[in-house]
Amino acid sequence: MDKIQSGVFGLNPLLDGGIIEHSTTVVIGASGAGKTTFALQFIMRGMEVGDDGVFISLDENQKQILIEAKAMGWKNINEYIENDRLVFIDASGEQFSNFIKVELPDFVNEWKGTKSRIVIDPLTPVIWATPEKYEQRELISFLLKEARKVGTVLCTLEEHGPMGDLSGSETIIPMYIADCIIHLKYRTIADVVNRNLQIVKCRSSRHSEKNHNYKILGGLGLAVKHTGLPVPKTTKITNQFLSKFEKQALELPNPVRKRIRDALNSLSDNELKDVDPEQLLEDILNEYRK
Ligand SMILES: Nc1ncnc2c1ncn2[C@@H]1O[C@H](COP(=O)(O)OP(=O)(O)OP(=O)(O)O)[C@@H](O)[C@H]1O
Ligand SMILES: [Mg+2]
Repeated sequence: MDKIQSGVFGLNPLLDGGIIEHSTTVVIGASGAGKTTFALQFIMRGMEVGDDGVFISLDENQKQILIEAKAMGWKNINEYIENDRLVFIDASGEQFSNFIKVELPDFVNEWKGTKSRIVIDPLTPVIWATPEKYEQRELISFLLKEARKVGTVLCTLEEHGPMGDLSGSETIIPMYIADCIIHLKYRTIADVVNRNLQIVKCRSSRHSEKNHNYKILGGLGLAVKHTGLPVPKTTKITNQFLSKFEKQALELPNPVRKRIRDALNSLSDNELKDVDPEQLLEDILNEYRK
């Protein structure tokens, strides 16, 4: 699976190398958390490696976004636009369902085959386009499915509920549909700004589950503090577990034995620490006993 550099300093190691190509990532956060900055870093990193970029704004106009981009150090953003490598679609104030069902598919047909990064900032108004949950889900699914035909998708999502509560309907639907969820937790306590980033889920990839402090630095953007991903070391518990497995697994069909051995090999002691190894081993063997 190919991964691409996110453009956010310190994030790639926490995603085991970067964002999976042609996946959909949702960045959730309250106002001022740094969502638009994150999205700009993602798209401008693509410019540096030769990807095309599509920035669909459902909120701020192009002029405002360009001002923010320049403040973050991308003085040459206009050149990319002039060379048609970066396209802004200002969908603010549009009928979103019409935009998604009619204009977007036309656009996708035109761009299909290019290697692009697509940003939708923010996704929230699409959810508010209809009160029906079923329609909301259908609209978001369609939007993301179409967008990923063109490339790797990053959407931002506003956090309106109490801090950390991601169960509201405007967050929960995109969270289920997206492949990767990154939560920018932003709060001010006694005039001190505190920012923490957490990767809530990331399909098909190892990732950090911890909170990581991040800063927004003028001219650079988001920079995440980290000590890297724990290496999945096969140490004490895992090794004992594996040797027991090898002794008892002779009765399993070869492909099954190989699959389980590979899985056990990649598990770390940390992942196994709350698991009863004897019980799990017994359950694996029972699963395949006639
Ligand atoms: N030049 C800068 N230097 C340092 N920090 C900056 C700079 N520019 C912006 N910021 C920080 O980034 C924050 C805004 O980030 P951004 O616009 O990406 O947030 P957002 O999550 O998109 O907010 P909203 O939901 O309101 O659109 C500002 O509140 C400020 O703290
Ligand atoms: Mg924003």
